[in-house]
Amino acid sequence: MKFKTVLAVETSCDDTSAAVVGADGTVHSCVQASQDLHHARFGGIVPEIASRNHTHHLIPLIEEALQRAGVDASSVDGLAVTARPGLIGALLTGLVTVKTLSLSLGKPFIGVNHLEGHLMAPFLRDAEYQPPAGFGFPYVALAVSGGHTTLYRVEAFGRYSVLGRTLDDAAGEAFDKFGKRAGLGFPGGVRVDRLARVGNPKRFEFPRAMIRDERDDMSFSGLKAAAGRAIDELFPTDREQMMAEAAQFLAEGSKNPRPGLLADFCASFQEAVTDVLVQRLTRAAVREGVRSVVLTGGVAANSRLRERVSAWAMQNGMIAAIPPLRFCTDNAAMIGFAGITRLGRGERSDQTLKPEPRAPLDREPQ
Ligand code: KG4
Ligand code: ZN
Repeated sequence: MKFKTVLAVETSCDDTSAAVVGADGTVHSCVQASQDLHHARFGGIVPEIASRNHTHHLIPLIEEALQRAGVDASSVDGLAVTARPGLIGALLTGLVTVKTLSLSLGKPFIGVNHLEGHLMAPFLRDAEYQPPAGFGFPYVALAVSGGHTTLYRVEAFGRYSVLGRTLDDAAGEAFDKFGKRAGLGFPGGVRVDRLARVGNPKRFEFPRAMIRDERDDMSFSGLKAAAGRAIDELFPTDREQMMAEAAQFLAEGSKNPRPGLLADFCASFQEAVTDVLVQRLTRAAVREGVRSVVLTGGVAANSRLRERVSAWAMQNGMIAAIPPLRFCTDNAAMIGFAGITRLGRGERSDQTLKPEPRAPLDREPQ
């Protein structure tokens, strides 16, 4: 059977998303509801709130995705859903919905590994994005989000090896925790990024853990602790000034970053994280002898990281595929592309499929 389009669903963490995707990666529609506001007052993601919000948003989002793509549910060829890894209750809401649709529509479905979705995101295409010319397998990919910081060698679709990963915090988690300490609320990553643009990255000296280590593993908890300590050790008047800068920035809708102590902190912190990430990605690409590199996951939204990886690729005759934000953060389009590729190879899931909170990629069928 030929699979021309699938309806895809992503509910593994706190974003609910639905998409209609074609076999060549064309995104006919992709819509999402972010839950940031619901979790912000708890300073992090609350799994139970995430599950409840998914149940609330998912059906309307599926309807919207179908409508925007100009198709109805009966005309897609199959369904794809994130089945692993993720928050168990969150995964369950998407999985139960897709299983039910699969039964009622009489269409096959496939459970997808969320990380495979992130690794395949550079192949997506829409009116504004397409994979860069010459991009292809094999490539080295850095999947960097609030939950993961892992460096992969991607030999072909389905053939992934882990080169290295964070031994403690994910880079996004470090951004978020630092942001919280700096008075920027949750999630802090994008706010740190905006402030860092007007800050001095050399003002504070933060550790780049393991940067000389031969292995590809990374560590961000020492940096998080060092930045937290530096905030604690500020003169009380300086700390008050910094918190006032944060309050003003937030009051203006995080739109108007101004130079100052807070911006310098953010720039110094961001430079330390990106130094490590860029070094790991570029070193591995050279060692592995690939021509293409990929940046994916929520932290790939970081403007400094994007800029540095793109500049390195330009200078070194490499191809950097850095999908736009909407395909880097959690989204159903990437799940749809991974899913339609697997369906096209004859793979199917059945009604016994269970969500799995942990699921290394190298256990997926090759
Ligand atoms: O992939 P994602 O949407 O969700 C998962 O964690 O799977 O990634 C969200 C993470 C959060 O930690 C958020 O702070 C971070 O990505 N993030 C950023 C930026 N935008 C989002 N970190 C740094 N700079 C950004 N511009
Ligand atoms: Zn993700």
